[in-house]
Amino acid sequence: MSIEQTASRDAARKPELRPANPRFSSGPCAKPPTFELIKLADAALGRSHRAAVGKDKLKAAIEGTREVLGIPADYKIGIVPASDTGAVEMAMWSLLGERKVEMLAWESFGAGWVTDVVKQLKIDAEVKTAEYGQIVDLASIDFANDVVFTWNGTTSGVRVPNGDWIANDRQGLTICDATSAAFAMDLPWDKLDVTTFSWQKVLGGEAAHGMLILSPRAVERLESYIPAWPLPKIFRLTKGGKLIDGIFTGATINTPSMLAVEDYLFALDWARSVGGLQGLIARADANAGAVHAFCDQNDWIANLAEDAATQSNTSVCLKFTDARIKDGAAFAKAVAKRLEAENIALDIGAYRDAPAGLRIWCGGTVETSDIEAMLPWLAWAFEAEIAAQTEAA
Ligand SMILES: Cc1ncc(COP(=O)(O)O)c(C=O)c1O
Repeated sequence: MSIEQTASRDAARKPELRPANPRFSSGPCAKPPTFELIKLADAALGRSHRAAVGKDKLKAAIEGTREVLGIPADYKIGIVPASDTGAVEMAMWSLLGERKVEMLAWESFGAGWVTDVVKQLKIDAEVKTAEYGQIVDLASIDFANDVVFTWNGTTSGVRVPNGDWIANDRQGLTICDATSAAFAMDLPWDKLDVTTFSWQKVLGGEAAHGMLILSPRAVERLESYIPAWPLPKIFRLTKGGKLIDGIFTGATINTPSMLAVEDYLFALDWARSVGGLQGLIARADANAGAVHAFCDQNDWIANLAEDAATQSNTSVCLKFTDARIKDGAAFAKAVAKRLEAENIALDIGAYRDAPAGLRIWCGGTVETSDIEAMLPWLAWAFEAEIAAQTEAA
């Protein structure tokens, strides 16, 4: 064995400490650390969701969301079908077309909304895109138009730095997909006319339902504008030119999962127990901070998000930068596979449309101690894969 091989074998010794929870998936995300199935025993199962017990729970989910996220009293909050996708689609199909729209995208999900607007709705749209790792020129936006954007690009780890770029006196509406931002970042409600997220993201809830949050201006648009295209029942937010108020008080459009509702109520309680929104933000910041520090200490790995001001504190995306790596995609996959095989980190491969690399979920349900225990293993897996690549050559 050469000196080089001996050195890389020694570097590749496995760390002793292991994360207590290896779940670092970017959705569905880790459940709150105190989660146990037994805690859902009070779910209104086998009952009508229109019965008082079901309606009360749905209402508690809405009002709990308002309380934890600090959503103004005059904003409407609805539980809608089809997770975040359902909420975004409902908003776009119900509201867009009244005026020109600017579509902003810097990763896969934002790009998906562009496709819908341009190819399906065929609306007069100005599309502004940026490469993975970068963000569009936020100073270039004309708020006479409607604007659709993703607060945190889950597949690139690039987020908007804040809401300062959004005009207070805008004539158009802002439609914001905030699914990997809500409960981890400060959202300026006065700048957001439509905000969406799903339960399966930052609070580690179950997939199925989406949250649709409307400002008074969004409601005004809904009540004054009828799109030129037909809307299926599942998208309809108005009846006879008036908002269907029931959707925003717990009378859902169709049948919800009361098990998922119970799970979300549990997650909201857990959120309160760690200090509410500010506690959740602090937890995500600490987690992302640990990953950022690791990148600073190791010159073979870097944040995909180029500008520190736009680096996500939830979906932290990483790229390998070592010149010895021959096939970037195969290398990143092999590292993720090694960590999965050791039960150290599950589901951390980059999103399928994103550049090769890793994505480590840092939202508040993840414990910082688990991130800190996982990172030395990432160094181990990197060294082991470099050695394997050398041996294979
Ligand atoms: C930014 C963004 N938008 C939309 C979605 C789709 O969410 P869902 O599957 O909950 O509809 C995701 C999922 O990861 C996302 O990250």
